[in-house]
Amino acid sequence: MQVKHPIDSVCIMTDIVLPGETNPLNNLFGGELLARMDRAASIAARRHAGHIVVTASVNHVAFNRSIPLGSVVTIEAKVSRTFTSSMETFIDVWIEDRESGEKTKANEAIYTFVAVDEAGKPVQVRPIEPQTEIEKSRYDAALRRKQLSLVLAGKMNPHDATELKALFM
Ligand SMILES: CC(C)(COP(=O)(O)OP(=O)(O)OC[C@H]1O[C@@H](n2cnc3c(N)ncnc32)[C@H](O)[C@@H]1OP(=O)(O)O)[C@@H](O)C(=O)NCCC(=O)NCCS
Repeated sequence: MQVKHPIDSVCIMTDIVLPGETNPLNNLFGGELLARMDRAASIAARRHAGHIVVTASVNHVAFNRSIPLGSVVTIEAKVSRTFTSSMETFIDVWIEDRESGEKTKANEAIYTFVAVDEAGKPVQVRPIEPQTEIEKSRYDAALRRKQLSLVLAGKMNPHDATELKALFM
């Protein structure tokens, strides 16, 4: 199968925070951000796979900074590693200073997607080869995140999570 690179899947979405999307503190509602990240990440995963993809799990979300009403938000999603049918996708969220246009990282998340056929059955995806330093470090850590996600979902015996166990030895 043809190897692809993380850059081939990149999806960048820029949007504004409107009044109906905020919490009582006038910051972006967390569920709204989760949905926006899911949309961007699913496009990235679909670009990599060339198939329908479904969200299998949300592995990590860090709401490090609140995002005020009126902010211009940029979400960048890229596939960081593929396995057989599943793909780990990294999402970085930036907000833009109204006057200078300077971007500050606000949040990040990691979602897992599975490529499926029309019947919803998992199908194999192409391998991926990281190129930049950050892509390489995300690629290297992805297997232990997958094992942790499977253990937490009750789909893997912790004794079989060798990569994860190696962290504590
Ligand atoms: C995701 C889904 C296709 C997995 O189906 P399944 O029958 O469990 O299939 P498998 O056990 O063969 O798993 C398929 C892949 O998903 C991975 N996977 C399943 N659950 C996972 C989890 N919680 N975390 C990480 N990976 C997971 C498996 O490791 C496997 O990866 P691999 O092929 O790369 O090794 C199925 O559970 C599904 O359709 N879920 C609903 C998805 C959906 O509707 N999402 C929208 C949100 S409601």
